[in-house]
Amino acid sequence: MPLALGLMSGTSCDGISAALVRFHGRSFRVLAERTSPYPPSLRRLLRHGPALPARALSRLHVELGERLARAAKRLLASSRFSPEHVAVIGSHGHTIYHGPRDATPSTLQIGSADVIAQRTGIAVVSDFRARDLAAGGEGAPLVPYFDKAFFGHGPARALQNIGGIANVTAVGRGVPTIAFDTGPGICLIDLVAQQMSRGKLRYDRGGRLAARGRIDPRAVRRLWAHPYFHRPPPKSTGRDLFNERLLRHVFGARLSRAPLDVLATVTFFTAYSVAESYRRFLPTRIREVIVSGGGVRNATLMRHLAEQLAPTPVHSIERYGLGAQAKEPVAFAYLALRALHGQINHLPETTGAREACVLGTLTLGSKSRDTSIFSPRKTTEKIEASRKTRKIDALA
Ligand SMILES: Nc1ncnc2c1ncn2[C@@H]1O[C@H](COP(=O)(O)OP(=O)(O)OP(=O)(O)O)[C@@H](O)[C@H]1O
Ligand SMILES: [Mg+2]
Repeated sequence: MPLALGLMSGTSCDGISAALVRFHGRSFRVLAERTSPYPPSLRRLLRHGPALPARALSRLHVELGERLARAAKRLLASSRFSPEHVAVIGSHGHTIYHGPRDATPSTLQIGSADVIAQRTGIAVVSDFRARDLAAGGEGAPLVPYFDKAFFGHGPARALQNIGGIANVTAVGRGVPTIAFDTGPGICLIDLVAQQMSRGKLRYDRGGRLAARGRIDPRAVRRLWAHPYFHRPPPKSTGRDLFNERLLRHVFGARLSRAPLDVLATVTFFTAYSVAESYRRFLPTRIREVIVSGGGVRNATLMRHLAEQLAPTPVHSIERYGLGAQAKEPVAFAYLALRALHGQINHLPETTGAREACVLGTLTLGSKSRDTSIFSPRKTTEKIEASRKTRKIDALA
């Protein structure tokens, strides 16, 4: 199988996570991965994306496309591969709006695929969510297809991603795949850290500040009363529910008077909402929890998660050779490769779509070739041999 490159810009607006991957049967090898942070001005623009006038949004779409293209080229340059080696780029883009339950369901991811294809010469698959919505689904979550393919052949496992929003996929032999957003990921933690530092901190590094505060059990109960947590899956959410407004509603003046306690409480609550959601909505006993996303680096959050899920072991995905922020770009590289071959690349049972289809829009690149005759293995294998990469087999 040729190489595929995945690009992801998540709800945290932290930057572009990219990964270059070779897929081969039921195993894959991550040849390079990196997250390039956004400058503060772009972060602000993306955050205010939904309120931008059409002209500014249209411009942002193209500018983000340029940045995504640069991220792809930089990844290739750092890994000594060239665009000719890559069959496809899977670009998730940045979500500006996601409204699966509107009277007219719609979703908008920006980051021009035309610009990416033009600058890199590589074919791009983008706009994965729109097709699922058109088929009556929620347009999310899409990563479970990848989770099932590579982690679904052993005992029941929960694949928990903690990015801006937290989502879980439960997979395993004989286990019906179930996936949904458990609620806030790192987004409430980031908000409090940013507010208390007046924007100097983007996040609570290592969860060190949260470890110094006191958890308020009453606030935990009030947060848990949010109707989202009581809705059965399939369900997905975003910053429109878990935002500053909610924090003000629950914590009021304590946000500025006792920010360390608020931080400790939302960090605890993030883990609590994950563990409680498992108890309510996962039909199977989980044997292992594998956590990915930037949340893995928050040691306080990980400690709460391990305590609340005990005796079930909680491991970082890094244990399996995959970088915490690499999983999502790896997954979109895989979905894109499937799309390129006209193969189904989502699980309707997890999105609620009426039928299985091939998600994604294909934008051809000038260096794209007929993938049936495209066989760059010799060169890529030589480069691969000179690098220390780990082959990741589907878990048994
Ligand atoms: N050293 C660290 N300590 C604590 N938190 C960290 C650290 N490094 C990153 N993070 C957190 O991880 C977040 C980024 O994670 P990630 O890229 O997985 O989220 P995302 O972009 O929102 O993804 P998505 O919404 O697609 O899941 C940062 O915003 C920050 O909160
Ligand atoms: Mg990110």
